[in-house]
Amino acid sequence: MCGIVAYIGEQEAFPIVLKGLKRLEYRGYDSSGIAVNNNLNLNLLKKQGKVAELEKYAEEFDTSGTVGIGHTRWATHGAPNDVNAHPHLSGNGKFALVHNGIIENYAILKKELISRGHEFKSETDTEVLMHLIEEIIEKQNVSLLEGVRQALNEVHGAYAIVIISKENNQELIAARKSSPLVVGIGKDEFFVASDATPIVEYTKNVVYLEDGEIACISLDSGLKIKTISNVEKTPYIQELELQLEALEKGGYEHFMLKEIFEQPRSIMDCMRGRLNLKNSSVALGGIKDYEEKIVNAKRLIIVACGTSWHAGIVGEYLLEELARIPVEVEYASEFRYRNPIINEGDVVICISQSGETADTLAAISLAKERGATILGICNVVGSSISRLTDCGSYTHAGPEIGVASTKAFTAQVTVLTLLALMIGKKKGTIPSNRFNRILFELNSIPEKVEEVLKSDKQINFISDIYKDASNALYLGRGINFPVALEGALKLKEISYIHAEGYPAAEMKHGPIALIDEEMPIFVIATKDASYEKVVSNIQEVKARKGKVIAIVTKGDTEVKAIADHVIEIPHTDDVLVPLIATIPMQLLSYHIAVMRGCNVDQPRNLAKSVTVE
Ligand code: M6R
Repeated sequence: MCGIVAYIGEQEAFPIVLKGLKRLEYRGYDSSGIAVNNNLNLNLLKKQGKVAELEKYAEEFDTSGTVGIGHTRWATHGAPNDVNAHPHLSGNGKFALVHNGIIENYAILKKELISRGHEFKSETDTEVLMHLIEEIIEKQNVSLLEGVRQALNEVHGAYAIVIISKENNQELIAARKSSPLVVGIGKDEFFVASDATPIVEYTKNVVYLEDGEIACISLDSGLKIKTISNVEKTPYIQELELQLEALEKGGYEHFMLKEIFEQPRSIMDCMRGRLNLKNSSVALGGIKDYEEKIVNAKRLIIVACGTSWHAGIVGEYLLEELARIPVEVEYASEFRYRNPIINEGDVVICISQSGETADTLAAISLAKERGATILGICNVVGSSISRLTDCGSYTHAGPEIGVASTKAFTAQVTVLTLLALMIGKKKGTIPSNRFNRILFELNSIPEKVEEVLKSDKQINFISDIYKDASNALYLGRGINFPVALEGALKLKEISYIHAEGYPAAEMKHGPIALIDEEMPIFVIATKDASYEKVVSNIQEVKARKGKVIAIVTKGDTEVKAIADHVIEIPHTDDVLVPLIATIPMQLLSYHIAVMRGCNVDQPRNLAKSVTVE
């Protein structure tokens, strides 16, 4: 949600900040802006729309200067327009601020500031924070750092901010609480960004700010960190593992397509060093110290949002089936506002691609307060969630830039499969021949995904037939029910077609009323324990003239005879079907969205990482 980039050093700041904003555009893209200190003034350029609009607009203006801040916005307070776009200037024009997050008490602060003579141009909470900082500096004659520190003690909510001053082009101040911020350390230059993607091409040395920390970055005295309660901290410098190529489209038309096609590799990377066929074992290094607790857990509670929540439901089936531990799967946003019962012996598993989702972070904090052990499944190394959990496993899917999650989902399911196998083996809940069979099958999943990807042309053809649908239904049973949910989410978020996912047998309890000859119904009808039942559900759809697009096991003839289209996937163990059945769903959504002229990588109203409630 909103992307922040800042630069201070000897190079021109504008092109670096602009390029950084393009890399961060997946976080929010309704407007953007950059402020540069050109030694005389703070030159401010802001534009509604994509960063490309800002780039075009900036051609006519002076953008020189060696310190600058930029922002790409996902609107919370105030419509996406030029005025509400960041940066925001102080009333006296001496400071410029970019902000990601929400200042919850902004309305009261604004009222008080107005009563003391402040005038506001925008509807944003950010401008209120800027004026508050300005007032403290002016009234108390304190430094920018101290002004920021005192102001942050007065605000409630979440923030990542960077602020520059007109009168000092040797310094910038950054701070965070519940919104990520990374400082990159180069030679005589520094970068600040919401994540490492804009930084990696300049330096591998980074410091992740912690909640409640303020960084004072000065070309004279380097990086200094203190807390908002005024305690000095020593910066902890880490080395980035991220590769620049992973952030490029690599010849594909969209990041989403690239990421779908990366899945054979990303699933393999996720299993690497963890699945060992030779000695028939699974090892998850990141949870080793908590292994006993997890294996003996009385209950597992999975918390997540969106696609990660769907992976959680697949996890519920896997963990109950293979490890025989009761599992509850919760939307993080609901979990945090209930009064959840957490007993001794419960382990909370939180799943998040970005590792920054505000609702998931809050759910973890609540579970921690109540004494639960927290296991994290995250994709982004060094993210807030990965640092907050007691133990965990990275998914190693590589950067996922497309807003619609694809390879992160299959990697999350892969980790959950490994976890279920590991616990099941330790507890003795999986007979060893079944354990070996699943392990062997899991190892062959990347090849099978590769095979499914070869159906892309056929899927493109089917997409063309259904691209104009207004509604769609996705059906699956058992472990494939969450695959149906995920299929429906993918379609609606990028093509704006209304889609619902249902357990196939639930259809007759309501959604069947929607079916007519216009309605495509995507069904996962692979040869597994519920195959015959699903075939009956397909018959029910056909009796009402619905159009059935079925995902079937290679060689299937029964469904082929009744469905309008079938997409074949290779046979695998029942518990591994989601890993391959998901692929055609992703491709169908992708092609339909492209055919409808939608921006698949940056769908309307969405953002990649949802760092606000
Ligand atoms: O980064 P997270 O996995 O925590 O994000 C959770 C959801 O916001 C995310 O999965 C969202 O639903 C995606 N747009 C789905 O494609």
